[in-house]
Amino acid sequence: MDILRSLRPTRALVQAWRHAGQTVALVPTMGNLHDGHVSLLRLARQRADRVMVSIFVNPTQFGPSEDFASYPRTLAADLRRLRAARADAVLVPGVATMYPRAGGATVVSVPGLSTDLCGAFRPGHFDGVTSVVLRLFNIVGPDMAVFGEKDYQQLTVIRRMCADLHLPLQVLGAPTVRDADGLAMSSRNQYLTPAERTVAPRLYETLLACRQRLLANEGDRRAIERAALASLRRAGFRPDYVAIRSAADLTLPQPGTRRLRVLAAARLGRARLIDNVSVRLP
Ligand code: PAF
Repeated sequence: MDILRSLRPTRALVQAWRHAGQTVALVPTMGNLHDGHVSLLRLARQRADRVMVSIFVNPTQFGPSEDFASYPRTLAADLRRLRAARADAVLVPGVATMYPRAGGATVVSVPGLSTDLCGAFRPGHFDGVTSVVLRLFNIVGPDMAVFGEKDYQQLTVIRRMCADLHLPLQVLGAPTVRDADGLAMSSRNQYLTPAERTVAPRLYETLLACRQRLLANEGDRRAIERAALASLRRAGFRPDYVAIRSAADLTLPQPGTRRLRVLAAARLGRARLIDNVSVRLP
């Protein structure tokens, strides 16, 4: 497995793969890899001849009061996992490589979608994501890139950026990987105390209850969202939102919309958890 830290060798390696007629998948991550990340890598392996994983804790997607400084950094363990999962290369760039201009660097922004849902509670977050992901795409030049559906809004924002900017690559979404009790895997789960960890699966259960009510046609969208918020509060969460949206573009569902996504973000102790489920109405 090649470990790359800068642009030139990364591009040279990808060029060599291309000359050999091989396709390339990129799996962007912030490290602290768990089974959810490994599932992204597995999907990448199935679809492409070569897989590059990037590890970069991107400062521009963290707000001033967020966990950038304390975000878990576990490079040695991550590299072991990536070797075991047969990644071909890992790109571990420094901040100066990703953002050579210290201040006033170019920002890529997807209007509307980026300030809705999580974007309303984390101002600038998705601008940070799109700004770093486009840089990674431009450095690596992959045929495809894989992102987890756990961050469904992120996936939707990135798909929109690629469509709007005519980026010549395919964006693949990989299903959320869950612990046995339903909690979606996330690096931020380690912020939960043992007591909070026992409560955390209620987030997924609440989303499943929303799905049941939508399928049973019980109550309108707003009533279902309100009931879910109340149930999260009773369980001890401080919810940011529960939202039933169109799965295609996260707009409010219209009467004929059949493919829905129910999304939620809620704080539990130090952790801010997000999750979502799909609903296909008959
Ligand atoms: O999902 C993540 O880990 C990050 O938001 C990403 C896509 C690697 C960009 O920093």
